[in-house]
Amino acid sequence: MEVVLLPTPEDCGRVVADAVVGSVLPALARSGPVVLGLATGSSPLLAYQELLRRHRDEGLSLTGVQAFLLDEYVGLPAGHPESYREVIRRELTDALGLDPAVVHGPDGAAADPLQAARDYEAQLLAAGPVVVQVLGIGSNGHVGFNEPGSSLASRTRVKTLTEQTRTDNARFFGGDVDAVPRHVITQGLGTILGAQHLVLVATGEGKAEAVAAAVEGPLTASCPGSVLQLHPHVTLVVDEAAGSRLVRADHHRYVLAHKLASQGW
Ligand code: F6R
Repeated sequence: MEVVLLPTPEDCGRVVADAVVGSVLPALARSGPVVLGLATGSSPLLAYQELLRRHRDEGLSLTGVQAFLLDEYVGLPAGHPESYREVIRRELTDALGLDPAVVHGPDGAAADPLQAARDYEAQLLAAGPVVVQVLGIGSNGHVGFNEPGSSLASRTRVKTLTEQTRTDNARFFGGDVDAVPRHVITQGLGTILGAQHLVLVATGEGKAEAVAAAVEGPLTASCPGSVLQLHPHVTLVVDEAAGSRLVRADHHRYVLAHKLASQGW
């Protein structure tokens, strides 16, 4: 796993944008369908803003991409402003000029969410592999909405959020924890591992413990983020605050300072 420790969240946003573009553009050039995996939440927002800046100012085009979300709340009506499909359209894909028809997410409003989860897994497998998957991490180590205790081999399914995650996410619902759905459909950890390149971004002191557990702790379902240790191509981008509990922080800075230009992300 490459740990990229950077001074500011803005630096993280630029590197995540570089990593996404570095995986997606060569795949688009080879032609054929290119699947881009997107996370929602606060962590990737600066990276998404950087992609939009490059689209606006430098002609970056991601046309040809099929975007697949990691997860979705169960029970929010389609079009709800906090449903992840709406969030990603608002924050990224509309302004990138991507047709909503190429932006896919689990159907959290389905009458049968269990079947909707199975359908989404099948849709993703048929479209994939995911060329690059953007990830955040929860303060409790969750990835996607795979909360602690999730099977490291799990596939897309319905999960119940922890109260900590509902409290963390209440800020998107006007601070009202009761408004945060209890259930979600999330790609499983095994599903996420199927992506060719995982790019996880975390910023702020609140993520420091989860980042250290994911990178340096044991491989354990108690920290779902630790499953990244099994993947051959992970770029983990953190600011100094989120990386502040990493025992090998000095080594990560040293590696970055001496990175070969040919190594890329
Ligand atoms: C979002 C997702 C979650 C978030 C995580 C961190 O699609 O899958 O795992 O990445 O909850 O959220 P933020 O970035 O808001 O701190």
